[in-house]
Amino acid sequence: MAHVLRSVDLTVERGEFIAIMGPSGCGKTTLLNVLGLMTTPTTAMSLVVDGVDCLKLSDPQRTRARRESIGFVFQRFNLLSTLSARRNIELGLRLRGMPVDGIVEDVISEVGLSEMAHRKPAHLSIGEQQRAAIARAVVCRPRLLLADEPTGNLDSENAAVVIDLFKHFHATWDMTIVMITHSRECARSADRVLMMRDGRIQ
Ligand SMILES: Nc1ncnc2c1ncn2[C@@H]1O[C@H](COP(=O)(O)OP(=O)(O)OP(=O)(O)O)[C@@H](O)[C@H]1O
Ligand SMILES: [Mg+2]
Repeated sequence: MAHVLRSVDLTVERGEFIAIMGPSGCGKTTLLNVLGLMTTPTTAMSLVVDGVDCLKLSDPQRTRARRESIGFVFQRFNLLSTLSARRNIELGLRLRGMPVDGIVEDVISEVGLSEMAHRKPAHLSIGEQQRAAIARAVVCRPRLLLADEPTGNLDSENAAVVIDLFKHFHATWDMTIVMITHSRECARSADRVLMMRDGRIQ
């Protein structure tokens, strides 16, 4: 069986903002899913977070670690179409059994959606939808934010807004960010840029 990832040796420091670039099919999304405890590597090694090897955890423990510590942002936003932006953002807390409190309005305000949080995704612009998805990902204050081409569906203006939000949460909440991008412009905002090719980090 061909391996998607091969001898990846990666250390991410707490509070770092990393960008990952590389050609289509080189394994970026797969790597992000491993880091996000969504995919378990078949022949790994170790995946150590805060001193704990997550590959040695049971499935329920791994799910809990993911819910408590990790937020995800996707290229296609993945908002629930039947819920308003506010309800989508609240889900970031509800799914984790956390109370829905004032932080929801704070985050809605920080991403600039106060006037339109009552709207469903279909009635938001593409850029607004991605800002709602970012709010949903960060509302539980995850220590790690993983983003898979978060600006891939956006024009350059909206892409810049998304990157500014990442920089904001990175700076104010000391959030560690790993972002996949095909945009050199977006990658420039990261502390470090990693290049991937054929399942390896170069
Ligand atoms: N669930 C899966 N089962 C088998 N192969 C897969 C699976 N998911 C991805 N692959 C393969 O693994 C390789 C890497 O895929 P991956 O999605 O990680 O690439 P990527 O770098 O994110 O590409 P892109 O820039 O197009 O999103 C590809 O060859 C892909 O076909
Ligand atoms: Mg991908």
